[in-house]
Amino acid sequence: MSAATRMSRGGPIRPRHPTFDLEEALAGDWNGGSPFRTAFFNALSLSFPSGERFFIDSVREHEDGLDDPALKEAVRGFIGQEAVHRRVHAAYNETLCRRRGYDLGELEAPFLKGVEWSEENLSPLARLAATVALEHLTAALAAALLDDRAGFLAGADPRIAEVWRWHAVEETEHKSVAFDVYAVAGGCPKRLRQTLKYVTLNFLRDNFRAVRTMLRRDGHGPGVFAAGMWHLFGWPGPLRRLVPEWAAFLRPGFDPPNERDAGLIDGWHPDPAMVSFAPDPARRAGPRAAEPRGLS
Ligand SMILES: [Fe+2]
Ligand SMILES: [Fe+2]
Repeated sequence: MSAATRMSRGGPIRPRHPTFDLEEALAGDWNGGSPFRTAFFNALSLSFPSGERFFIDSVREHEDGLDDPALKEAVRGFIGQEAVHRRVHAAYNETLCRRRGYDLGELEAPFLKGVEWSEENLSPLARLAATVALEHLTAALAAALLDDRAGFLAGADPRIAEVWRWHAVEETEHKSVAFDVYAVAGGCPKRLRQTLKYVTLNFLRDNFRAVRTMLRRDGHGPGVFAAGMWHLFGWPGPLRRLVPEWAAFLRPGFDPPNERDAGLIDGWHPDPAMVSFAPDPARRAGPRAAEPRGLS
């Protein structure tokens, strides 16, 4: 499938500009009252400001080599969406650490170190491959969040659940963009498969390190961490259930499937009591001029 075909099927990619009030919700175990499930999502959020800057930079480095107007437009949308995500999650993380007494610098350090290492040691194409692989992981998680059968957000505070659903919708909308840029840049599929294994291990190591740090800070012993890992990978196993989707990427000829995307995106009906959206300035001035609002 060509990039242009995929973009037109997925519709335009435009950043939304949400405002959330998470001040109270982030102070507690907002995800169903579970310390582990709360820390798992908070750790994901902590990885986003540095990770999404890396995604933007690695795609932007290849922007000049693009000719397809549809793909260029999709790249602008991708950059606009990821820029808003990193601003919203930076505000989320600041609120989280202030309300719960966490050390933001300590928690973000491993994620920043990983990005710095990649910038110093990897070629632009290898950095783009890492972005493609991480976008695949993100898209798989996003679909599970929006589908909701996996129960990732069961019992979650509705204000914070809305943050994750908004992010998941936009990850679904732009999930093919880095993949298509990589193809145009002449990237090798075999390298993508190797990269997915590498970035998955790093992703899990860094996220669970942050989970352990937060649980320790909250006074929880190793039993809470062990029970949480069983929940994710054993039973009911929402992360284990993502393995087939993760592994599809390793098959020769993989192309991001989008059959379910419209249903997932259209199935999201944000509650106006939980989130408000500013008018889309991108319609007037282009995504780069858009100023994300973040948390109130
Ligand atoms: Fe994102
Ligand atoms: Fe993304």
